[in-house]
Amino acid sequence: MRKPLIAANWKMNTTPSEAVALVQQLLPGLMAVPSVETLLCPPFISLVLISELLRGSDIELGAQNVYFEDKGAFTGEISLSMLTGYCKYVILGHSERRSLFGETNQTVNKKIRAAISAGLRPILCIGESLEEKEAGLTESVVTTHLQQSLEGITDTSMLVVAYEPVWAIGTGHAATGEQAEYTVKLIRNVLASIFDADTASAIRILYGGSANAANISEFISQPNIDGALVGGASLKPAEFIDMVEQTAKFRPRTLMSDPL
Ligand code: 13P
Repeated sequence: MRKPLIAANWKMNTTPSEAVALVQQLLPGLMAVPSVETLLCPPFISLVLISELLRGSDIELGAQNVYFEDKGAFTGEISLSMLTGYCKYVILGHSERRSLFGETNQTVNKKIRAAISAGLRPILCIGESLEEKEAGLTESVVTTHLQQSLEGITDTSMLVVAYEPVWAIGTGHAATGEQAEYTVKLIRNVLASIFDADTASAIRILYGGSANAANISEFISQPNIDGALVGGASLKPAEFIDMVEQTAKFRPRTLMSDPL
């Protein structure tokens, strides 16, 4: 049974004091919905402060990136050993990291391997650009992302995949539930070909890209979509709590259906 996960990617938003205020507004509403796993991924500088605020709650904390080396002369980078103890998850391969900071499937692969061996759960982000979608390349893009990012990985027990079509991120033009389910099902089939069917059916796959309170039900009512990776709407506490509450209503019924 795949527990639904609603994850907040705050990206490069919130000062430490704004982050604390946001967590204080989120906490009561999120703690009231234990059937959905909720995850906050603030900027690095707020992780220590927020981990104190979340202590004793079942809300999880994650980082938005990490470097794969453990320590040394890597100016500006953060290592896994710095994150462990504070974070349970780490977002890897986000399209903004790929397009703005030169990340490749090869660097993402190194980061996933390092995260798993450090005991952090990687959320692997994959998805096609608008040009790739229009050229009919969605299937080959997500297949390549998965094959190269997961090369040599055998332990998938901590892995989460997020399908984030680049054309839907921050644009206000989310995929429809049917579009997202089509590609997420395809992703699950690719995972089955890389690993095996049982392994693929146990991996949680999230949708991301302009997800909000008005459209979340379209995604979480789909049999293969296990939650969402939320950007802009996760900075609005009432809306994010609403998304988690809607997920709690939908998923218990749909989780029982065929995952593949
Ligand atoms: P938006 O929800 O702002 O489109 O961002 C999605 C995203 O990139 C989450 O990682």
